[in-house]
Amino acid sequence: MKKTIAVLPGDGIGKEVTKGAVEVLKAVGQCFNHQFEFVYGLIGGGAIDQEGTPLPSSTKQMCGKADAVLLGAVGGPKWDSLPPHMRPEKGLLGLRKELDVYANLRPVSFYESLVDSSPLKREYIENVDFIIVRELTGGLYFGKPSERAQHNGEESVVDTLFYKRHEMKRIIKTAFDIASIRNKRVTSVDKANVLESSRMWREVAEEIAKDYPDVALEHMLVDAAAMKLIQNPKHFDVVVTENMFGDILSDEASMLTGSLGMLPSASLSLEGPSLYEPIHGSAPDIAGTDKANPIAAILSVAMMLRYSFQLEEEAKHVEQAVEQVLSAGFRTADLAKPGQSYLSTTKMIEEIIDTIVDDAAIS
Ligand code: NAD
Ligand code: IPM
Ligand code: MN
Repeated sequence: MKKTIAVLPGDGIGKEVTKGAVEVLKAVGQCFNHQFEFVYGLIGGGAIDQEGTPLPSSTKQMCGKADAVLLGAVGGPKWDSLPPHMRPEKGLLGLRKELDVYANLRPVSFYESLVDSSPLKREYIENVDFIIVRELTGGLYFGKPSERAQHNGEESVVDTLFYKRHEMKRIIKTAFDIASIRNKRVTSVDKANVLESSRMWREVAEEIAKDYPDVALEHMLVDAAAMKLIQNPKHFDVVVTENMFGDILSDEASMLTGSLGMLPSASLSLEGPSLYEPIHGSAPDIAGTDKANPIAAILSVAMMLRYSFQLEEEAKHVEQAVEQVLSAGFRTADLAKPGQSYLSTTKMIEEIIDTIVDDAAIS
């Protein structure tokens, strides 16, 4: 198989973890006889520095033509005081919108070997296995107006939560499709006791549910869902929610696995290339220290193999290599207990690549 992958390392640890993800793809290509070609582009702070904009048109064009897009992370203190349209995050949001990748899948898994890395007790997290289906191209992130204004002589501000019905329909349908091939339970998370947008979301969820008689639908208010994620995370199978709630709940959910550095994501559209990125950010506090956990980025590549290239065996091969390395006791700093030794980003990547290659030689 021949595929072209657009790689956007971005800022901070984005660059460090993306390097590992690309090396993993190269190793998979060699072991399984695929030709993966990589084209590189600028996004975020680096793009602002070099091109004066967080999303250069050359990057948009390159991504549009690729078979899949791999992104590290954007942002950092250097660009935090720029005007809103010039922030690195605007580049990422612009790319998501441009590619129309409305369905952001964020799987949350339990790793036996990481049971001590989570701040939660074993009995709460053992065998946790659910997926957050986050709407990614609407809601508060994109609603207009979003601005400062004068109101009766006082400085005021407005952000707008805007959704069209079809945007709700397509993401909720995606969640039901996923639930159909999992444990057939959808939890739709909203704030219907307060927000009109959530009341419409509930309506749409009920409507879609009629087409899936074997999938059970429940509604949960977002504050209660945040609590339930800690109190009884095994309750969940497929969680579907709007953009901002999904952002917040997925960082929370990462602690069930053990670290924000563990959670991958796939952002899918109805047609055109999909976008793969770890859920974490550019981690300015550890950028440049070779301390970042590259696993979320590497598992994002496994999702790319599965969803964009239909290479299920190769995807599993990568996921199993990660599990093996963790089971052998290797850790990055974020996963290590106090006093426990840990590997650098570079060494962790090497361990995972060696395992991918060794396992392929055996099978
Ligand atoms: P962050 O996700 O970058 O970091 C939060 C904490 O988690 C930090 O302590 C960091 O060191 C740690 N962490 C994150 N990823 C890690 C990894 N792979 N290995 C080990 N530790 C890891 O969030 P933040 O600090 O709130 O944001 C920093 C910048 O990143 C901001 O500019 C923000 O907008 C941006 N951001 C970008 C993305 C993205 O590009 N997809 C996602 C989230 C945040
Ligand atoms: C994420 C990030 C982004 C988001 C930011 C950087 C725009 O937090 O991918 O989770 O909120 O979607
Ligand atoms: Mn986030």
